[in-house]
Amino acid sequence: MLLETRALTASYGQFRALFGVDITVAAGECVAIIGANGAGKSTLMRSITGVIRNEPGMVLHRGEPIGALSSAEVMKRGIAMVPEGRKLFPSLTVEENLLIGGQMRKVPGPWNLDAVYELFPILRERRNNSGTALSGGQQQMVAIGRALMSNPELLLCDEISLGLAPVVIRDIYAALPKVRAGGAAIVVVEQDIGKALAVADRVYCMMEGRVTLTAKAADVSRQQIHAAYFGEAA
Ligand SMILES: Nc1ncnc2c1ncn2[C@@H]1O[C@H](COP(=O)(O)OP(=O)(O)OP(=O)(O)O)[C@@H](O)[C@H]1O
Ligand SMILES: [Mg+2]
Repeated sequence: MLLETRALTASYGQFRALFGVDITVAAGECVAIIGANGAGKSTLMRSITGVIRNEPGMVLHRGEPIGALSSAEVMKRGIAMVPEGRKLFPSLTVEENLLIGGQMRKVPGPWNLDAVYELFPILRERRNNSGTALSGGQQQMVAIGRALMSNPELLLCDEISLGLAPVVIRDIYAALPKVRAGGAAIVVVEQDIGKALAVADRVYCMMEGRVTLTAKAADVSRQQIHAAYFGEAA
């Protein structure tokens, strides 16, 4: 298995945010994580990427325990995150932001500056602009491109459509099949259930720090999602 969490728990001080989360992501797979505000989706992403450090065996990469590694070490293993809120380096240009992604992990693969500019042509036009001079959608494209520059095996995307116009969301989601074609597995954290189901092979729904539903995206019903999302029958 490319990635696995086993009875993963996480806390902020005294506050427990995750209570034994088990998920798997196979190589090349696209998995969606859905759930209401505060369900623990971002905490799960932070636990996988080493922003929050856990017991080693709570997160496994190709069977090896990585739960206690730092985020830099996790990234070197080929797990890249597009964080919630994009988090570009504000004093750097688009191109500099992208190049930093490539410096974190230097391995051969399909992604380099040209490939990212082909994926998001507007970024080539804006390459010398500062990251913060861009629209929200363009900033999101930089954040995705920066993660891709490390040629990850697994790309974690935390709410990449949040606050963006539908036409921009469409462009960003159109990039994901091309990312998969490059061989990467993808996890999308998404509030938009329709978008999540359209792009993913499988879906996990979280509520209050637990997984409440695991299903194939093609099979799952609205009633099942409603129940898992709100903890009540539809
Ligand atoms: N830095 C933090 N300090 C303390 N509590 C936090 C922190 N970050 C998140 N939490 C709490 O942990 C729980 C899970 O939050 P998390 O951000 O993982 O949820 P989420 O599913 O990503 O929500 P959203 O959809 O709003 O992004 C929430 O109750 C939240 O208030
Ligand atoms: Mg979140």
